[in-house]
Amino acid sequence: MTSILQDCSVIHNELEEFENDVMLGLSAIHKNISSKYLYDAIGSDLFNQITRHPDYYLTRCEIEIINDNKEKFSNIIKQEPFNLVELGPGEGVKSKILIEQFLNDSLSFTYMPIDISKKYLTHLLSKLKDSYPHLNAESVNSDFLQGLTWIKEHSKKRNIVLFLGSSIGNFNSLQAKEFFYHLRESLNPGDYVLIGFDLCKDPEILINAYNDKDKITSEFNYNLLARMNRELNANFNIEKFRHYPVYNVYNSEMESYLISLEPQVVYIGNLKRSFVFHEIEPIHIEISHKYRLLEIEQFAANAGFNIVNNYMDKKNYFVDSLWQVQ
Ligand SMILES: C[S@@+](CC[C@H](N)C(=O)[O-])C[C@H]1O[C@@H](n2cnc3c(N)ncnc32)[C@H](O)[C@@H]1O
Repeated sequence: MTSILQDCSVIHNELEEFENDVMLGLSAIHKNISSKYLYDAIGSDLFNQITRHPDYYLTRCEIEIINDNKEKFSNIIKQEPFNLVELGPGEGVKSKILIEQFLNDSLSFTYMPIDISKKYLTHLLSKLKDSYPHLNAESVNSDFLQGLTWIKEHSKKRNIVLFLGSSIGNFNSLQAKEFFYHLRESLNPGDYVLIGFDLCKDPEILINAYNDKDKITSEFNYNLLARMNRELNANFNIEKFRHYPVYNVYNSEMESYLISLEPQVVYIGNLKRSFVFHEIEPIHIEISHKYRLLEIEQFAANAGFNIVNNYMDKKNYFVDSLWQVQ
């Protein structure tokens, strides 16, 4: 196997995109900012800490599933060289288990992580290079869909796509439906995707996971305000906002807000604009949808995938669903 480790960054103007999205989001009747902006260098570090926290069960459950089934995954996908594409790998803890299994089984593949966070990609690639000097890897620094389009234009190989950590839950049902449609469009018949879905469970467990007792999740969300201060020359006073997570039982969604604790005006230098916040006015930051198996089956069928199998942890908290393009 050749030893290639290169960074094929998709060029996009990150700052301009951030400015436009903040302008639109904070001008809306219900103020909102996309959760993808939580992951700058500081946010990425905080998210890593969250994944190791005892209250955040998601990572532990998915590691258990992948460890229990890695040989099966390897057997299912083993023919032909393929791209192991990963959407939003973060630290890549789970992907590393699969990479190691596939290397041990002498599968021929190129690992292609797509992530909006340069920090995650650089760190991940350098760690992989140390651990697996013969691994072929090319990183794509971009949004998920832009990255998939880039791969489709640059490679004719079969694709195995990993979308782990229930990152899909950050989309509402309509967005998820559209996302799966675009995912299907960027793949070819026979390609596989392995998607992590967090399942519906006792809301107490959910609230604890998204509001850990050591306040790391609060810090993670406050960092979004700090990021706007750093990058957009805003003057948010972080102490005047509070992290507020709530479980919406009708939509099966954990919702995270930053609530303005008092009436205030915030100026954002790069936008040359002030934004008025009323007392207890929220900024919607993130949703984390919780799924039922029936919903997962409908997503797969609507987008043109067959479900090969659903792999669950012993507590039935989480499922990794293996789909194949029809
Ligand atoms: C919730 S973390 C999940 C990390 C990892 N997959 C796991 O299972 O722990 C989300 C990851 O996706 C990246 N990300 C979030 N939104 C993105 C987007 N729209 N396009 C590309 N990457 C994104 C983040 O930088 C981060 O690495």
